[in-house]
Amino acid sequence: MKKTCPLSISIGLSIVFACLAAPPLARAAIKNSDCFGCHSDETLFRSETDGVSQSRMSEQLFIDKEKFSHSVHHSNGIGCVDCHADIKNLNYNEEVPHKKQLAPVNCTMCHEEESAAFKDSVHMKIRGKGITMTCYACHGYHYVTHQESMSVVERVNNVCAKCHNPYLSHDWLPKKNEHFAFVECVVCHAPEAPRHIQLTFFDLVTNKMYSGQEILKILGIAENEFMPMLDINKDGNININEFENLELMLKQKNVHAIFHAELVVEMQAMAHQVNKGTAERDCKTCHAADSPYFKAVVLLLTKDDGSANHFQVDRTVLESFSLRHFYVLGGTRMKLIDKIGFLLLAGGLSVVLVHLTVRIATIPLRRKNECDDKQLSLEKEVSQ
Ligand code: HEC
Ligand code: HEC
Ligand code: HEC
Ligand code: HEC
Ligand code: HEC
Ligand code: HEC
Ligand code: HEC
Repeated sequence: MKKTCPLSISIGLSIVFACLAAPPLARAAIKNSDCFGCHSDETLFRSETDGVSQSRMSEQLFIDKEKFSHSVHHSNGIGCVDCHADIKNLNYNEEVPHKKQLAPVNCTMCHEEESAAFKDSVHMKIRGKGITMTCYACHGYHYVTHQESMSVVERVNNVCAKCHNPYLSHDWLPKKNEHFAFVECVVCHAPEAPRHIQLTFFDLVTNKMYSGQEILKILGIAENEFMPMLDINKDGNININEFENLELMLKQKNVHAIFHAELVVEMQAMAHQVNKGTAERDCKTCHAADSPYFKAVVLLLTKDDGSANHFQVDRTVLESFSLRHFYVLGGTRMKLIDKIGFLLLAGGLSVVLVHLTVRIATIPLRRKNECDDKQLSLEKEVSQ
């Protein structure tokens, strides 16, 4: 990601280093702690009386220090006044030491690429209808965290599902539960954005995901020992044998982990290009032997701050039987589902027929999957 505000960032950094060196600018003297002096008070509200109905409106001005300290901005040295950039000094002679009405925060000054990609999106175009969508309508502002380690369900709940219920549309899409639980919205809706299959560790016994830290602890190794230990032939890629070794190592530690596979976008500006009429809907783009959507596969070691380490994995790993509820589209286990593509190509078949064929073709798969389905319906409940 390209940052385009060296000034603001350097100010942010200088706040961090303020105790090491004399602050070069007067403004750099403003520390987060100055703001927290008032804004960490949970009872700090601004209340006004509505002139018409005489009802009291109040807005909380409390910032949760603990949560803020875990934000991606704080950990990158961005302080209060880097965003609230029109506060140049604090005048303690006044009851409120800064302007009561501050300028709106401009996310764009640091995120130019994302803002450029966003300009072309349907969400920007609704300005024509008088609706202004801010960056923080999706991301929030004080407590933005890394999104890499989030599951599809979390990503969807955090962003798109705040405003859209996908079950009310997509009539043409069978198995909505599966698609919405395994395919992130922007994979289809921003088809230019690079994407990959992301594999995370899932425990069959407790029905929970393992964090990367937990996996490292179980294996008794440090982060930088993970890849050297797995990648026996040193080609920078985990192939199926190396992958099976990992399973074995976990089994030896009495951990029955399998892998949860999901289709997500990479963290890039292109994810913002959601547009009308351009979304991917062609079944055979994904459900075909050589699908470009299934080329890149990464194994994820998630971290507490929401970021993650990625390790390149060979595509053939998707055919491993230890993948939870995932049939490689185009792989041997998915041959039946692949027929959907062929049937559609053959043409003339109604959606209903296709749907029926799919249901019949997947009976053995679906039986095998009964317990996964329970999990899915749970996930669906969560996502609604
Ligand atoms: C002495 C207490 C105090 C300090 C210190 C303080 N604020 Fe405030 N702040 C307030 C009060 C009170 C309000 C509500 C003002 C009003 O009545 O409208 C406020 C309002 C705000 C608002 C809302 C403004 C708007 O336009 O809606 C922001 C943003 C803000 N403060 C940020 C900061 C930042 C950033 C700092 C540190 C540089 C800071 N404040 C330091 C007391 C303080
Ligand atoms: C990543 C940018 C960013 C940072 C860093 C940031 N703010 Fe804000 N803040 C915003 C945005 C965006 C808003 C809401 C709308 C606006 O003012 O433009 C906001 C709103 C506020 C408000 C009004 C109440 C509310 O929650 O909406 C206060 C008070 C405030 N900020 C104080 C602070 C303080 C204190 C800090 C440092 C601890 C801080 N902000 C750091 C972006 C930021
Ligand atoms: C003063 C500069 C600055 C401003 C203003 C700013 N950011 Fe950031 N933002 C950063 C930096 C630095 C990072 C960390 C970059 C990285 O991890 O590569 C970041 C990271 C992010 C991320 C990435 C999280 C992830 O998944 O890795 C999001 C989302 C984000 N900012 C949203 C916002 C929003 C929304 C606003 C406006 C409310 C905003 N930023 C304002 C500097 C800024
Ligand atoms: C309609 C919802 C939406 C809006 C509005 C939005 N974003 Fe995003 N943003 C996303 C999604 C989705 C991702 C991809 C992350 C994911 O998969 O969860 C993302 C990722 C990011 C990232 C991390 C990826 C990267 O490029 O490093 C940053 C930074 C970011 N957005 C900044 C912004 C800024 C700045 C704006 C305003 C110009 C903005 N976003 C507006 C949905 C949105
Ligand atoms: C803050 C609320 C909000 C969020 C979050 C949001 N959207 Fe939207 N979205 C809207 C609004 C409002 C419209 C415009 C609806 C209209 O024009 O009638 C819209 C329009 C759309 C459209 C075009 C709809 C059409 O009528 O053809 C698509 C597609 C879409 N959004 C997808 C997404 C995706 C994918 C995400 C997550 C990355 C997302 N939205 C997040 C509010 C939101
Ligand atoms: C398999 C691909 C795919 C997935 C996954 C997907 N969509 Fe869609 N979606 C489409 C297509 C294709 C359309 C048709 C219109 C278009 O191209 O915008 C559509 C239409 C929409 C519309 C416009 C509906 C209308 O009434 O016109 C919205 C809003 C939307 N999707 C939101 C979402 C959200 C939110 C998610 C994630 C929970 C999601 N979509 C997941 C492919 C997908
Ligand atoms: C963007 C890629 C993408 C598109 C487009 C797409 N799918 Fe899927 N589909 C997936 C993924 C990923 C899964 C989850 C794999 C799994 O559950 O094993 C899935 C699951 C399914 C399943 C369920 C398999 C099972 O395990 O129960 C069926 C049936 C299906 N898709 C049919 C379709 C049809 C028909 C279309 C076109 C109308 C379509 N898909 C479009 C990616 C896609």
